[in-house]
Amino acid sequence: MSDNQTQNGNMTYALAQQSGSIQIDDAIKIYKRGKIEVVALRGLTCEFKAGEITVIMGPSGCGKTTLLNVIGGLDRLTSGRIFVNGVDIAQYTDREMEQYRRKKIGFVFQFMNLIPELTAEENILLPLELSKTLNKASKEFVNSLLDIVGLSERKTHRPDELSGGEQQRVSIAAALANNPDIILCDEPTGELDTASKRIIMELLHSVIKKFPEKTMIIVSHDPELKAIADRLYYIRDGAISHKFSKEELQALKKQSGEEQNIDFSMQSSDPSRAHEVALLELREIDHYVREKIDKIEKKLHPM
Ligand SMILES: Nc1ncnc2c1ncn2[C@@H]1O[C@H](COP(=O)(O)OP(=O)(O)O)[C@@H](O)[C@H]1O
Ligand SMILES: [Mg+2]
Repeated sequence: MSDNQTQNGNMTYALAQQSGSIQIDDAIKIYKRGKIEVVALRGLTCEFKAGEITVIMGPSGCGKTTLLNVIGGLDRLTSGRIFVNGVDIAQYTDREMEQYRRKKIGFVFQFMNLIPELTAEENILLPLELSKTLNKASKEFVNSLLDIVGLSERKTHRPDELSGGEQQRVSIAAALANNPDIILCDEPTGELDTASKRIIMELLHSVIKKFPEKTMIIVSHDPELKAIADRLYYIRDGAISHKFSKEELQALKKQSGEEQNIDFSMQSSDPSRAHEVALLELREIDHYVREKIDKIEKKLHPM
């Protein structure tokens, strides 16, 4: 028997572990505030695969952050199951959940949560110190991460000496420091100008190409991010409203003729695909309209 099998006790688990998949089954999350209940996830079912970037889009308040938090073990479902490499993390004890979060998950947030007093390098080393896995090899890995995010020259700079885009690059390197299986990005470009946004998108894309055993999930309300998606989900009111599989997206990208910068608005020459392109456009418009309505409603009825 291999070490892997001995450690994990059974073959199925070892095989499932390799696949790097996440399967979410009928996820329900209800927040209770006194007597008021907010249903943030309403029977959401979907899957994620290693080597892929899944982009999840949806208007503000539809449950994107909640979904990332439950996948990342920051919060628990009210009901439903989350299989990560074949294991239902909903069954984890608090202690197991903490281990899972520290070892398997890398988070990238909209507001890069870097420690202002620490240099770029120290911020990246921090997760390793916290999980007590800092050693020579991990330090070398951090140096290679600085290289990957293009900040080797700036590793001694503090966050306030870096641009927004550079700070987000540090956050991405910090999220990768523990060599996690799953990278969760919550509005990673939300605070950035267009040029920095493009750089971050390219970086996230290159990370998954470099580490194809990892699974990346990006939630955003910014439709531009779909350019780097291998799989695309739309959420509406806590459930998946529309989805594009890897194959469907690839076919659409091929059709639009450009792998990196997809223009879904191009007219389809293949009639059998034309309706899919049209649907995607309509979903996007729907998504914009919904967001505008939300904004206006918030102005009219502030909480
Ligand atoms: N801790 C919380 N307590 C109560 N309600 C919450 C909490 N977190 C989120 N919600 C509510 O759950 C819904 C989904 O929120 P969220 O997942 O943050 O959406 P998104 O990230 O798509 O904007 C919203 O109605 C939000 O107000
Ligand atoms: Mg959110």
